[in-house]
Amino acid sequence: MKHIDNTPSTPGKFKMEKSPYNRLRLHSSLAKLTIWSLVFLGLIFIFFFRSPSSSSSGSLTSDPSRRSLRTSSYGGLAWEKRIKASAKVRSRNGMSVLVTGAAGFVGTHVSSALKRRGDGVLGLDNFNDYYDQSLKRARQALLERSGVYIVEGDINDVTLLKKLFDIVPFTHVMHLAAQAGVRYAMENPSSYVHSNIAGLVSILEVCKSANPQPAIVWASSSSVYGLNTKVPFSEKDRTDNPASLYAATKKAGEEIAHTYNHIYGLSLTGLRFFTVYGPWGRPDMAYFFFTRDILKGKAIQIFEAPNHGTVARDFTYIDDIVKGCLGALDTAEKSTGSGGKKKGPAQLRVYNLGNTSPVPVSDLVSILERLLKVKAKRTIMKLPRNGDVQFTHANISLAQRELGYKPTTDLRTGLKKFVRWYLSYYGNGKKSAQ
Ligand SMILES: NC(=O)c1ccc[n+]([C@@H]2O[C@H](COP(=O)([O-])OP(=O)(O)OC[C@H]3O[C@@H](n4cnc5c(N)ncnc54)[C@H](O)[C@@H]3O)[C@@H](O)[C@H]2O)c1
Repeated sequence: MKHIDNTPSTPGKFKMEKSPYNRLRLHSSLAKLTIWSLVFLGLIFIFFFRSPSSSSSGSLTSDPSRRSLRTSSYGGLAWEKRIKASAKVRSRNGMSVLVTGAAGFVGTHVSSALKRRGDGVLGLDNFNDYYDQSLKRARQALLERSGVYIVEGDINDVTLLKKLFDIVPFTHVMHLAAQAGVRYAMENPSSYVHSNIAGLVSILEVCKSANPQPAIVWASSSSVYGLNTKVPFSEKDRTDNPASLYAATKKAGEEIAHTYNHIYGLSLTGLRFFTVYGPWGRPDMAYFFFTRDILKGKAIQIFEAPNHGTVARDFTYIDDIVKGCLGALDTAEKSTGSGGKKKGPAQLRVYNLGNTSPVPVSDLVSILERLLKVKAKRTIMKLPRNGDVQFTHANISLAQRELGYKPTTDLRTGLKKFVRWYLSYYGNGKKSAQ
């Protein structure tokens, strides 16, 4: 019997195969074994090279933050639960909004206003060190108390963005994350390209593939009007002579928005903010560091344009900007595409959000002096050619008509609220802003 023939005569040894038929069987089993081994190795290869953490299509740029996705606290049931709770809609007809730049000045205010009225809000911010990170952490703590969770990550992290969209089918994205500031571009130009151009493209790529596609409202800037001299600045004016890299990246953003609207049917609204100020503001802005320096008794530089020309800004109070953002979200139509394909024409809008009453910077200083009860040490300097423009002035009739936007806070009232916050946050100047 065959099985007896194959039994070794001596334990530990196999009987030698003698017949050609047996040799043939041995060859065919070896061939089968080799094929199965190759199939198995192939499967292992596919598994490792297609897994999200190593997929080269996961990010549009070589982005260091992707490393954190693989190694840090992202993911897990508790994390997803937190995200879902934060993004849960609590009002009838409410929206679920992903707010990028939520630990920033405008992002914090917009997130908390949305949450207050019952919308679902999830924040995303990379907490970069462009300015005092402890201020961003304090804003995060503030939002946390009202039930808004901020995921810590970069907008270039496509894998993370996709995961957030897997967890929550966001109806809207309020995209505020950006490298702000005009002068810093001379020091770190690539940060503007990274956040304002590559980052915007990452957001739009993920939004275009999401199902359903969200409507997107995003922050452009009054700086796109650049060296224009016709005032007030209107959305119909040309915007092709930017005075800074910051302005150029925002202008590029508006063109990129046009492309994604045209190809993929994404509903896109760009908001051109005019010098936003208020409590929890940005320490790199003049009203903020003037306050700090006046309190410290340090000299402040006030710029003057050629021929003693006045430098003025259309300062806009944060609460007015928030109302404009909410108005834009509320009137945003749905995107029309699905699965990355356009199904019909979609909304594409741009609005000025300003105050329509420019104030000379020297008047801003006088108001601060009165509120702080300290005389400023003023030095007058020529406006340097490093990105700042002489004046800004918004025509807001379009936003008034279509978003119901109506700013109500004059500079004196707004600065009073800012100074009150500043003194309580920094403790009457004892602990001072960095
Ligand atoms: N404040 C103004 O006067 C003003 C004027 C015009 C336009 N804007 C625009 O409004 C938006 C909000 O401005 P803000 O004053 O709140 O600035 P901000 O710097 O306080 O907020 C931006 C936030 O985005 C985050 N961020 C930056 N790059 C990121 C990235 N790659 N990934 C994730 N997070 C990132 C930052 O950490 C920051 O918390 C920006 O797009 C800005 O360009 C602001």
